[in-house]
Amino acid sequence: MSQEIAVEFRHVTFSRNRRPLVANLNFSIPQGEALVLLGRSGSGKTTTMKLINRLFTPSQGEVLFNNIPTTQWNEIKLRRKIGYVIQETGLFPHFTVERNVGLVPSLEHWKPNQIKSRVYEMLHLVGLEPEKFAHRYPHELSGGQRQRVGVARALAANPPVLLMDEPFGALDPITRLELQREFKRLQQELGKTVVFVTHDIQEAFVLASRIGLMYGGELVVLGTPEEFMRSPHPEALAFLQCLKPTP
Ligand SMILES: Nc1ncnc2c1ncn2[C@@H]1O[C@H](COP(=O)(O)OP(=O)(O)OP(=O)(O)O)[C@@H](O)[C@H]1O
Ligand SMILES: [Mg+2]
Repeated sequence: MSQEIAVEFRHVTFSRNRRPLVANLNFSIPQGEALVLLGRSGSGKTTTMKLINRLFTPSQGEVLFNNIPTTQWNEIKLRRKIGYVIQETGLFPHFTVERNVGLVPSLEHWKPNQIKSRVYEMLHLVGLEPEKFAHRYPHELSGGQRQRVGVARALAANPPVLLMDEPFGALDPITRLELQREFKRLQQELGKTVVFVTHDIQEAFVLASRIGLMYGGELVVLGTPEEFMRSPHPEALAFLQCLKPTP
């Protein structure tokens, strides 16, 4: 059975002030895949994500979402299909946790009681007791709690594709590992397509069905974790040196 393609990059370059931020991106993401983009700071991971939900449009080449170029999509419709957890969580400061998490369902006119039960379900999932946290504002949370609200919000409307830009960066290592495992289980169970950015190779190995290694704006290695382990690319070797034995 051939697998459907969720996202496809066709010879994509994105430039600002005539300088390419990413170049020659040419790869596809099958539905249900957990693709982890790994790379050091400034290597082009966030830029690649933003090309998927059309925060950026290619300077050359095209990005296809469900086989249609992103430039031909209605932007709002496209973004409703793509949950996005941004690096800085992007919560609305003047909305409670409950309103933040229920944002997309309410834009999609779900019934209030449906929204509330979905919000509570998502907060449970990310380990925040709804009774305690639903009515707080983002500034009344720790950085790690805010990140978890960001994850809950991205999952709430059940989008088929999730972009997650270092969503667990601000968590302590124990909570982080718990959430990674929980997220992995969930992703496999729901069959979601996920693009997950990290510069933590440990995290990449826990979550990835394939790892894409970015270096200087290019995708230099793309393969399963086993293939990645055998990659002779110097940047892959540099990352593999950071790998500690898994707990
Ligand atoms: N809007 C912009 N205009 C000009 N240059 C940009 C813009 N956004 C990012 N850059 C540059 O593009 C390169 C790639 O940035 P990007 O944000 O994709 O990196 P990243 O891999 O996500 O890094 P990090 O791990 O630090 O988040 C960097 O050199 C960055 O300075
Ligand atoms: Mg980034």
